[in-house]
Amino acid sequence: ISLKAFNTFNIDVVAKHFVSVTTIEQLKTVLQLKNYPSKLILGGGSNILLTKDQDVLVIHVNIKGISIVSENENSIIIKVNAGENWHEFILWCLDRDYGGIENMSLIPGNVGTAPIQNIGAYGVELKDVFVSCDVLDIKTNTIKTFNKETCHFGYRNSVFKQEEKGKCIITSVNFKLSKTNHKLLTNYGAISTQLKAMKVNTPTIQDISKAVIAIRESKLPNPKEIGNSGSFFKNPIISKIEFEKIFSNFKDMPHYPVSEHEVKIPAGWLIEKAGFKGKTFGNYGVHKNQALVLVNYGNAKGSDILNLSKLIQKTIKRLFNISIEAEVNIL
Ligand code: EPU
Repeated sequence: ISLKAFNTFNIDVVAKHFVSVTTIEQLKTVLQLKNYPSKLILGGGSNILLTKDQDVLVIHVNIKGISIVSENENSIIIKVNAGENWHEFILWCLDRDYGGIENMSLIPGNVGTAPIQNIGAYGVELKDVFVSCDVLDIKTNTIKTFNKETCHFGYRNSVFKQEEKGKCIITSVNFKLSKTNHKLLTNYGAISTQLKAMKVNTPTIQDISKAVIAIRESKLPNPKEIGNSGSFFKNPIISKIEFEKIFSNFKDMPHYPVSEHEVKIPAGWLIEKAGFKGKTFGNYGVHKNQALVLVNYGNAKGSDILNLSKLIQKTIKRLFNISIEAEVNIL
């Protein structure tokens, strides 16, 4: 089948063998199929660039369900199965006034893949509300649990991108959210500006979600209209020493300290400065409002977008001596 509808870049490649599973039992059965030694696990398809037809067995994890594990007056623990859509889960929480994830509104993708790269936006990361996740261990075909410590979360990083890569499949995630005294995070520049524009003085979690949605809609292309995978690159983290050298030539370079010795630079700024923002190459290019986002305007090939990303990386390296790494998984 064509995978076009299963990846937000809308890349039209073919999967020779495809199966969508809706229960853990089905997933276990499929994993035991001996005829298909290599498998590709697919969630919401919002963080992949498909560059070729897939000969392996593509397993679409479509296990749905949200349930309450425990709650008290102030907080609640919710178990969400991997196939639930991330933003729909947020809306479900906002309806019930459960707080903690509103800043991550409208991030594309499914709940089950969110821990892999520790998704984050506007001052909040998945790890801030994460309790644990259940995974199916591919070798033993049994369920194991990872807690916050064993997940080794970092900036767009976790154990599932490192030691556990390819070894397990996340089947559900447990979150701890607030029921009262919501901790509102409005200090991220654009949010407070947006709330002011909305004439909101004492924001609720629902207002913050609305503000985030408005900001994202103004900057980020809707994957339903223009194929994309959000930020294509990670924001590079460089040493302070390296930073000082570059900064002396580029005094307008935005930068955020991440530790005593390290600084994070917005890759979007580097890409814009290098002249790529809004550039189109036939049916693909760099988004006009956010240089971190590569876009497919029509029937672009994954390999075209991959080549563009390599050209951007090479140019950034030449101009700034900074290496930027893809955030998206290239398959
Ligand atoms: N900037 C530019 N030009 C651009 C884009 C950005 O100069 O075209 C500079 C500006 O100085 C701006 C700064 O970069 O102030 C930061 O931009 P923004 O707040 O839009 O955030 P970002 O660093 O570009 C990150 C995440 C986004 C997340 C936003 C908001 C990564 C790789 N990306 O982007 O996450 O929504 O912060 O928190 O960390 C994603 O991961 O797919 C994603 C969209």
